[in-house]
Amino acid sequence: MKKKITVVGAGHVGEITAQRIAEMELGDVVLIDIVEGMPQGKGLDMSQSGPIVGFGGRIKGTNAWEDTANSDITVITAGLPRKPGMSRDDLLHANTEIVSKCAEMSGKFSKDGIIIVVSNPLDAMCEVARRVTKFPKNRVFGMAGILDTARMRTFLSMELDMAVENITALVLGGHGDTMVPLVSCCNVSGIPITELLPKEKIDAIVARTAKGGGEIVALLKTGSAYYAPGAAAAEIVESIVKDKKKVLPCAAYLEGEYGYKGLYVGVPVVIGAGGLEKVIEVKLTPEEKAALDKSAAAVKELIDLLKV
Ligand code: NAI
Ligand code: 2OP
Repeated sequence: MKKKITVVGAGHVGEITAQRIAEMELGDVVLIDIVEGMPQGKGLDMSQSGPIVGFGGRIKGTNAWEDTANSDITVITAGLPRKPGMSRDDLLHANTEIVSKCAEMSGKFSKDGIIIVVSNPLDAMCEVARRVTKFPKNRVFGMAGILDTARMRTFLSMELDMAVENITALVLGGHGDTMVPLVSCCNVSGIPITELLPKEKIDAIVARTAKGGGEIVALLKTGSAYYAPGAAAAEIVESIVKDKKKVLPCAAYLEGEYGYKGLYVGVPVVIGAGGLEKVIEVKLTPEEKAALDKSAAAVKELIDLLKV
C-alpha cells in the first residue's frame, strides 16, 4: 500500500524534503505549516512540477493536523533556523515549544508512525519528541549525521578531485561544533584517506566539516542550509519505505551503546521498515572516544535544560 508521509514545516528544509520525497515517489505527501495558504500554495506548485519532471502522487499542503492522520512517517522540520552569530543551541527554548506541539499532534494523529526530527538543536529536539510522544526509540530519531558526513565527503572530493560517490566518511556525535568526523572511517574506494592526503589537509577538512553549517549561515545571512538537509531527510524516508536497511549516521537514543545511557547521539544505524532497527558500534581509538565523550556531554548539557 502507498505510504503517507507528512512533512511538518513548509519552510526551506521542509519544502526540499517534500519535493524530493514526491520526486522519488515514496508516497503521498502532506506538507503542514502554521502559515495560512503557504503550504497549500507550495503543495500545488510542487504537484504541478510532476508532469514536467515525471512523477505522480499527491502533495497536499495544509494547516490542519487532521489531514496528517495515519501518516506512516512524519518529518519534523518546524522551527526557527539559525541567523549569523547564533549557535544551534541558541534555538533551544523557542524550538522546544514548536517541536513539542508538533510531536504532540503527530503522536495524536499518527500513533503508530515513525518520527524523523530535523529541527535544531537536533539531539535535544529528538529528546523532546521522544518525551512528548512516548514512542519507542526505533520510531523517534534524528537527521544530522547524513548531512555532516555529506559535507565531509564533498570537501574531500573537492580537495582530491575525485568522484564524491567513491568517497566514504563517517561523522558521529551531537549535531554541533563538537561533532566527531572519524578519519579512520574515511576512504576512497577502500583506500584510506591518510594514504591520499597529508595530515594538515585532513585536519583542515575535519575542522571545516564541524563548522559546515555555520559556513553556510554566514554566507546566506538569512537562515541555514536546506538543499543537503532536505535530501538527507528524504534519504532516511526512502530507506524506511523501501526497507533498504541503509547504514546511515542518525541521532539515536542510546541505552548503553558507546557507553551512553538515555541520550541521543549521532551514531551509525540501520534504517529499514521498522525505523531505526539497529545501532552499530564502531571501534574507536582513545582520541575518538574522548572526542565523542565531549560531544555527548554537550548534548547532555542541553537536555538538562529542557523543561518538557
Ligand atoms: P524556515 O524558517 O525556512 O522554516 C521553518 C518553518 O516552520 C516555517 O515555515 C514556520 O512557519 C514553520 N513552523 C513554525 N512553527 C510551526 C508549527 N508549530 N507547526 C508547523 N510549522 C511550523 O527554517 P528551515 O531553514 O526550514 O529550518 C527548519 C529547522 O531545521 C531549523 O530549526 C533548522 O535549524 C533545522 N535544520 C536542521 C538541520 C539538521 O541537520 N538537523 C539542517 C538544516 C536545518
Ligand atoms: C546545518 O548544519 C543548520 O543544522 C543546520 O546546516
